Amino acid sequence: MAKPYDPKDFYYRRAKAEGLRSRSAYKIDEIVRRHRLLAHGQAVLDLGAAPGGFLQVLADAVGEKGIAVGVDLEPVRNLGKPWVKTAIVDLLAPDALSRIRALHSGPFDLVTSDMAPKTIGVKVTDEARSLELCRMALAIACDTLKPGGGFVTKVLMGGDFPLFRREVATLFDKVHVARPEATREHSYEVYVVGKGFAGDRSLPRDLGHS
Ligand SMILES: C[S@@+](CC[C@H](N)C(=O)[O-])C[C@H]1O[C@@H](n2cnc3c(N)ncnc32)[C@H](O)[C@@H]1O
Repeated sequence: MAKPYDPKDFYYRRAKAEGLRSRSAYKIDEIVRRHRLLAHGQAVLDLGAAPGGFLQVLADAVGEKGIAVGVDLEPVRNLGKPWVKTAIVDLLAPDALSRIRALHSGPFDLVTSDMAPKTIGVKVTDEARSLELCRMALAIACDTLKPGGGFVTKVLMGGDFPLFRREVATLFDKVHVARPEATREHSYEVYVVGKGFAGDRSLPRDLGHS
């Protein structure tokens, strides 16, 4: 029988005990390790970073010689690590790219997005809003990644998910779909992982950036 929803499940309690700001930290940790997406000294951009669980893991992965940039509609409390830079940015706004470049002119080795819209409980609407954020994350990745770089974004399965996966596949050498262990049992979210950015900036551009 399926377990009832428990907001304070094993990963929630583990995150609290280990000083991590979200249980999602375990998801990006698993994905980054499994797909070998980051090394010390590299640059990473995290979209939809608040409260900062992903960013804690990513900052440790690049270390003090690297750079970790996190942006969100909400503020990210200071992580106390000088190589981490954060700002309040609406990633759907026309100035999003220039706001990111003001933090780090780039390019980045990895772009991650855990962005999620405020859900309203209507599946098609929630999926469409989630996909809009995924496409914007992909457009920003195309504008900021090094050739050969990596991309990770949360996507809700359903709707145009197969189409989005194909869009990522046109831009990266390899595409994987990951469902990390820390994903809640009933969730229909997965992470699309692109490895080996082709450096072709022509595809999903023109999504509102200047
Ligand atoms: C699930 S939370 C991210 C959790 C984060 N990865 C962590 O580990 O702490 C989703 C985030 O997406 C952000 N978000 C949603 N729409 C956004 C937008 N248009 N621009 C920037 N951030 C957005 C929300 O503010 C929220 O903080």
